[in-house]
Amino acid sequence: MSDSAIPRHVAIIMDGNGRWAQARGLPRKAGHRAGAESVREAVDACLDLGIPFITLYAFSSENWSRPEKEVAALMKLLEQFLKTKGKEFMQKNVRLRTIGQIERLPASCRAQIAQVEQDTAQNTALTVILALSYGSREEITASTRRIAEKISTGELSPEEISKETLAQHLDTAEFPDPDLLIRTSGEFRLSNFLLWQLSYAEFFVSEKNWPDFNKGDFHEAVADYSRRHRRFGGL
Ligand code: IPE
Ligand code: IPE
Ligand code: MG
Repeated sequence: MSDSAIPRHVAIIMDGNGRWAQARGLPRKAGHRAGAESVREAVDACLDLGIPFITLYAFSSENWSRPEKEVAALMKLLEQFLKTKGKEFMQKNVRLRTIGQIERLPASCRAQIAQVEQDTAQNTALTVILALSYGSREEITASTRRIAEKISTGELSPEEISKETLAQHLDTAEFPDPDLLIRTSGEFRLSNFLLWQLSYAEFFVSEKNWPDFNKGDFHEAVADYSRRHRRFGGL
């Protein structure tokens, strides 16, 4: 596989934790716990392949509408996840960043995020971007609001607004667009994930539920990507 065949940025919709648990007669919570373990597989695969960016859809804006008990379990798991990842990310030279409405998360999670982000800020092998309380429509709306504020203060004029202006006001401003989108559990939809940024991404849908998705599956998705011919509207 040549270097150019390796995506620079992989985005993953980590779906199917509940179904994984249900198939085993376990509570949904157990599926989320197993799903958190799968993150290591994807991170290690990125490090093996030299992929510098990975975005993981961990909790959507719409996921707040789930039963209170499940949301609470997910928040607790997130806090535990961040506690263990701090150390692992330092060992592996991995940097943590987040996108989404972090202010909606419990204070304990926000504190952990700030800590791990700060500790890993100088790491260079891989950037792991966690999408938390993330919704693409919410993100684009907030970006539009920030641009409108700049127009109202005279910092920006309407004629100056370009595609780049919009991109620079999104949560993802500092990251390249994903080249490859992976969704697990056999679902073919975006579920409000990175609508702007995925404009020209290649899609890979795996039938496996997220807790079963391992390093080998990740390598397979990248190998499939490397065989695609991306045209970007040209010939
Ligand atoms: C994905 O698994 C994880 C989150 C959305 C937090 P699900 O919880 O959506 O699992 P299924 O889709 O019900 O199987
Ligand atoms: C998308 O999965 C969100 C995450 C994986 C975090 P969902 O399970 O919430 O999406 P829908 O409901 O199937 O569209
Ligand atoms: Mg789901």
